Amino acid sequence: MKVTRSLICFTILLGLFVMACRNSSTDGAKDLRSADAAAKTDNARDAHSYSNPEQVRVRHVDLNLDVLFDRKVLKGSSTLTIERIKPDADSLKLDTQDLKIIKAETSNDGISFAPAQFTLGAADKILGAPLAIQLPPRATKVYIEYETSPNASGVQWLEPAQTAGKKHPYVFTQSQAIHARSWIPLQDSPGVRVTYSARIRTPKGLRAVMSAGEASFNDLIGGDQSGYSFNMPQPIPPYLMALAAGDIAFKPLGNRTGVYTEPAMLDKAAREFEDTEKMVVATEKLYGPYRWDRYDILVLPPSFPIGGMENPRLTFATPTVLAGDKSLVSLIAHELSHSWSGNLVTNATWRDFWLNEGFTTYLERRVIEAIYGREREEMEAALGLQSLKKEMDDLPDADEILHVDLAGRDPDDGFTLVPYEKGALFLRLLEETFGRERFDQFLKGYFERFAFQSITTDDFIAHLKKNLLDPNPQLAAKIPLEEWIFKPGLPASAPKPQSDAFAKVEAQAKEWLDGKTPAAKLRTKQWSTQEWLHFLRFLPQQLTANQLKELDQAFGLTKIGNAEIAHQWLLISIRNNYETAYPRLEEYLTSIGRQKLIKPLYEELVKTPAGKERAQKIYAKARPGYHPIAQTSVDKIVKKQI
Ligand code: BES
Ligand code: ZN
Repeated sequence: MKVTRSLICFTILLGLFVMACRNSSTDGAKDLRSADAAAKTDNARDAHSYSNPEQVRVRHVDLNLDVLFDRKVLKGSSTLTIERIKPDADSLKLDTQDLKIIKAETSNDGISFAPAQFTLGAADKILGAPLAIQLPPRATKVYIEYETSPNASGVQWLEPAQTAGKKHPYVFTQSQAIHARSWIPLQDSPGVRVTYSARIRTPKGLRAVMSAGEASFNDLIGGDQSGYSFNMPQPIPPYLMALAAGDIAFKPLGNRTGVYTEPAMLDKAAREFEDTEKMVVATEKLYGPYRWDRYDILVLPPSFPIGGMENPRLTFATPTVLAGDKSLVSLIAHELSHSWSGNLVTNATWRDFWLNEGFTTYLERRVIEAIYGREREEMEAALGLQSLKKEMDDLPDADEILHVDLAGRDPDDGFTLVPYEKGALFLRLLEETFGRERFDQFLKGYFERFAFQSITTDDFIAHLKKNLLDPNPQLAAKIPLEEWIFKPGLPASAPKPQSDAFAKVEAQAKEWLDGKTPAAKLRTKQWSTQEWLHFLRFLPQQLTANQLKELDQAFGLTKIGNAEIAHQWLLISIRNNYETAYPRLEEYLTSIGRQKLIKPLYEELVKTPAGKERAQKIYAKARPGYHPIAQTSVDKIVKKQI
């Protein structure tokens, strides 16, 4: 009896002890996160860079590059201005990926340079190779002569056939997340902000553009080359350094906005993006002044591997958003919003990526609401939530966490909808809880407080507590902060976008599915792109051959030009083996390189043996036209190396 009782006591005590330990470890972690400087440094450490900014920090990058289309190489030099944080540190550590380093020199005064010892370490598949340069005690400048590899992960070289004009070659860079190191040797960490200047030489007549102000056109070069020089006076993280060159023309949109693209696409692009100036004004009204002088957009050839890239002063964008009716311009609202969340206040490491993308997705929706109204915004938010839920079905728990652990992994793996949509829902919850006015003030203050800084999730949390949660404890009690930022899954407190328009679309779809109304008689005349997307996603996975034919005949879906609607229709077609759409599928996959649009189609194809064969056949044709990043990701899907 006694034995049993003490056993029970022991068991209870053990249980309490375990619980206490669990609690103290979470509380302890919480304390560490907010207070302990050591933990803070640890979270601020970038697992994706070999560089040593805590000892020697690069402050300015001066590029001098030739664009050599015949060799598919950028060749020239980068001169780094460095700050000696720890005066006794005698080497500068940089990131490189597939770079050929020709020589290194250092200088104390920026005028006379002397040869420097350097070593290029072994290359890691993800991180590339560390470059260590010996520094004399008072050196403040480092000159590196180098050239890129034709296979550089951050550079795509296009043949004339891959452009709209078909006459001239084209080249562009994509540095985010860690590809800047494949075209510039630097401290490739978002925590290391640099100003930059550049001189770029191209074959005569081909224009170079960069994520910077154009300082002056230098036609002293003469001969068969053109020269362009650039200057970015605001400190930016290296993933925002960007260059493109080709047959590029420009058209102004407003006072400080404009669009660059190949001449054949210029008018179309200018019409599509005619609301850009209005968007800048709307965003400024919400979140404070636009700090980057001009906001221009470069529309790239269709192989651009992503939708948009927020390169400062010059957003890079896919031509697949040129729908003809401005229905896909939320991409511009998004990249523009990064001028506040991302470019002004930057994630310090890639595990803080949600600070960039969650905030930006929230801002994007606010801009869309301001220009096109709440209904459009709610439709887009609802589509975003649907896609998030669908993606989360297949994600491991660890990847559903906003403060995701990416150590040892390619940061491109963090490119899921979790940082975007879950992050945006978290901010929307704050808005709904504290009220729009108070939350807008808070965000404006946040951008002001951390302008031109790179911050961690901990920095954000401390700021949030101090400025929003602690002053309003009753409302703060409704925000399960730990759950939102450090736990997987979508919290029960997640806001639910409401779209009446979508309810009507669903009613129409049901009428058709129940056989009450033929497709041609459905009330679809006024439907926007968003309503079409919802309609197609709402349909059951399995449709009969007759149903597919009826939809196609009623709405001409196989030949539709809108790249998003076509994508959704092609998914349905693959799933149900609708052969009529296969020539269009092949045309789509061989002409577009945007990963978000092509990867799900390959994934759907490889689910059956016949589909896999088709995928391999199409991919053999399409692969040479894809960007190196897209090639790597589609290779993984189609498996067979080509
Ligand atoms: N910064 C991202 C693109 C990115 C993220 C490139 C991570 C490389 C690594 C950009 O702002 C973005 O989010 N683009 C989206 C479009 C947007 C409307 C959601 C895209 O490309 O699909
Ligand atoms: Zn973004």
